[in-house]
Amino acid sequence: MVRTIEWRDGVVYTIDQTVLPKKEVWIELKTCEQVAQALKEMKIRGAPLIGVATAYGLALTAYHSKALNRKDFMCELEFAAETIRNTRPTAVNLFWAVDRILKKARETRGGIDNLKKAIITEALRMADEDVEVNRRIGKHGATLINDGDVILTHCNAGSLATVEYGTALAVVRAAWEEGKRIKVFADETRPLLQGARLTVFELMRDNIPVTLITDNMAGYVMSKGLINKVIVGADRIVRDAVINKIGTYAVAVLAHENNIPFYVAAPSSTFDFSKSAKDVVIEERNPEEVTRIGTETIAPEGVQVMNPAFDITPMRYVTAVIREDGIITSKELKERLKG
Ligand code: MRU
Repeated sequence: MVRTIEWRDGVVYTIDQTVLPKKEVWIELKTCEQVAQALKEMKIRGAPLIGVATAYGLALTAYHSKALNRKDFMCELEFAAETIRNTRPTAVNLFWAVDRILKKARETRGGIDNLKKAIITEALRMADEDVEVNRRIGKHGATLINDGDVILTHCNAGSLATVEYGTALAVVRAAWEEGKRIKVFADETRPLLQGARLTVFELMRDNIPVTLITDNMAGYVMSKGLINKVIVGADRIVRDAVINKIGTYAVAVLAHENNIPFYVAAPSSTFDFSKSAKDVVIEERNPEEVTRIGTETIAPEGVQVMNPAFDITPMRYVTAVIREDGIITSKELKERLKG
């Protein structure tokens, strides 16, 4: 487990997730534009970490601002907010973080120094909250886990996707810390291999038993009874669906077919009940992510490619969501949304 992002004297330090597990490189980001670029390139990724990085990006703008009056300061901040908003459209945590920082700025009275201090303090608070909230997700989620369970996860919803403790992997970590002897199966997660590169990396580092499979093996391992629970994270949970890394939907349907519970672990900042699945923009990424593995080209030049980064799992496939305030079955969720 690692603290993935740090703020020190107007500089943000974070791990470049594109080069893991081969190299552990820490990058220094000094402007909000640099943070935005790191988000686009997925050096920083995972919904909760994207949220905190967004807050830190805006805190960088505040810290380095030379504005002499409130109007100019707010103009700079809103421009930076727009730059970040245009990086990745799907994870709601990004928009949640922009709104929270802008709200804090608008509410804060006093001079520019006061404003700067309030924004930086809010960003630091959001990072600490992320750790705390994910620990609570872990505690609640661990009540669902039995000694001997084998859990399948997709993508990386671990320490690296958050400030420290993970969401889906928070549940795994908490159960492990309670002494439950569990095992994890990790889908490799094409095209960017967050499962193979990141989930496996962090679980092995924490000595939690993990077996790597390619995405198309999930059905086989389920049909053979090799796993008995699925836990994934989420980029956005809307009224009728869970939006998460491409491939999640297939895993959920397979779990349903094999009578395996399918859980989604996510903080309340990932919930967006003002929207339904049809309202959400699914990020379409560079075709080269599909035609290449690393620097190796694997498809004929000029092939037409589709590369949606996320998919939509209808709520009927979700057994329950695990949040910092407890476990909510999808049936209860439906009732709450009706009321
Ligand atoms: O494209 P990514 O790597 O940012 O996508 C990450 C995921 O889909 C994760 O499962 C999700 O953000 C949950 S992270 C706790």
